[in-house]
Amino acid sequence: MSLKVVVLAAGKGTRMKSAMPKVLHCVAHKPMVEHVIDAAACLGASGTVLVVGHGADQVRATVAADVDYVEQTEQLGTGHAVQQAMPALNATDTVLIAYGDVPLTKPETLQKLVSDASDSNLALLTVLMDDPDGYGRIVRDTSGNVIGIVEQKDATGEQLKICEVNTGILAAKASVLGELLGRIDNNNAQQEYYLTDIFELAVQQGMTVTTHQPEFEWETVGVNSRSQLAELERIYQRNQAEQLMAAGVTLRDPDRIDVRGDLSVGQDSVIDVNCLFEGKVTLGENVTIGPNCSISNATIADGTVIKANTVIEDSSVGENCTLGPFARLRPGAVLSDSSHIGNFVEIKKATIGKGSKVNHLSYVGDSTVGEKVNIGAGTITCNYDGANKHQTVIEDGVFIGSCTQLVAPVVVGKNAVVGAGSTITKAVAENQLAFTRAALKTVENWPRPVKKPKSE
Ligand code: UD1
Ligand code: CA
Repeated sequence: MSLKVVVLAAGKGTRMKSAMPKVLHCVAHKPMVEHVIDAAACLGASGTVLVVGHGADQVRATVAADVDYVEQTEQLGTGHAVQQAMPALNATDTVLIAYGDVPLTKPETLQKLVSDASDSNLALLTVLMDDPDGYGRIVRDTSGNVIGIVEQKDATGEQLKICEVNTGILAAKASVLGELLGRIDNNNAQQEYYLTDIFELAVQQGMTVTTHQPEFEWETVGVNSRSQLAELERIYQRNQAEQLMAAGVTLRDPDRIDVRGDLSVGQDSVIDVNCLFEGKVTLGENVTIGPNCSISNATIADGTVIKANTVIEDSSVGENCTLGPFARLRPGAVLSDSSHIGNFVEIKKATIGKGSKVNHLSYVGDSTVGEKVNIGAGTITCNYDGANKHQTVIEDGVFIGSCTQLVAPVVVGKNAVVGAGSTITKAVAENQLAFTRAALKTVENWPRPVKKPKSE
């Protein structure tokens, strides 16, 4: 069986009040339509057809996945939208219809529909709602069989009382879909070609309709406004938090973590409040993340402690390290096991060797730092000459005194010591002491300035 997923994404989304097409608005930093495309990929679909209209060029330019585009230049209804996709399908395909603005449907839920679609059966996802207002209602006969769907605007008073509604998500054989769509018209309250009309037509010609309900109502919630987008974001984040806790991670408050990407965490790690994870982040076991940390595209190994307000980007951290509070790892920072990076320290494109310490107020960039090095407070690698970047190499066992400037390119040899306050512009050899220091001057009885009295 070959499965194709058709995603409807041509609508304007007026209520978003946005220059951007609705389906490009993000949940967890990923456009809604990409959530749908990814769910389709989980089902092993052989192709995804995106029906675009409003902002079609923007959608094409943004969506990275390999999908087929079909343009619906005029939005004449959901049935018309699917009709535009028919040429991109083969008669033998099974077709799943999904919506670019309904981002959180689980692949397991969609799979149930796919399995039910046949030459004699349509599969439909429905949901029971306390307040069905605005939705298409599922009409059943006295034996409970689906006989059609009626839109809110076309429904009778009796039909409006039905609480089982159409989610819009359905599966059918392409040949069946094409044949039924060929027979719908726009003779209704909205003068639109309704996709929903295929159900009544199918039943009239002896086909059956099976329905499934999602495990969670939010799987079928669509976004029409920024307020609904924010609601779905919270639901998505809560789900991520539940998954982490189920995998053995302690979250100090599951409502105060944001995962915008792919976070994997080992057992017994603890994440404090207000942490943000972006891109691909891997935390080992027994990792502790303090409050207010932002970590993107990084690997943090077992036993490492990251204290409050630390920011990490495109970096890797070994086992049993300590970082922060207020540390910053910029792209290309590589910390070896048991290293310590303290407050107000910035590391960029630099390797810090095993057991080395940069504890206070320093900048280490474009550098290789060996093992068991101690870099004193306020040390700066002067890596940039105004035109080019240069390398600093600090070998094993070196001690750099506080407030040192290392003017790159420069090498400090093994076990050397640099005296506090030095400006190092030439190589320091192994075991040397190097320092640059102006002679101390003193003036006796220096008159201190005195504050002027305040005039009345
Ligand atoms: C539709 C269903 C309704 C269901 C509801 C669920 C129909 C006729 N009605 O109603 O039974 O309860 O969804 O949310 O199908 N779209 C296009 N091209 C068009 C029209 C729509 O691509 O010409 C896309 C929209 O971008 C949107 C989706 O289809 O993603 C649904 O369209 P919308 O107008 O919101 O349908 P509803 O009236 O809400
Ligand atoms: Ca809608």
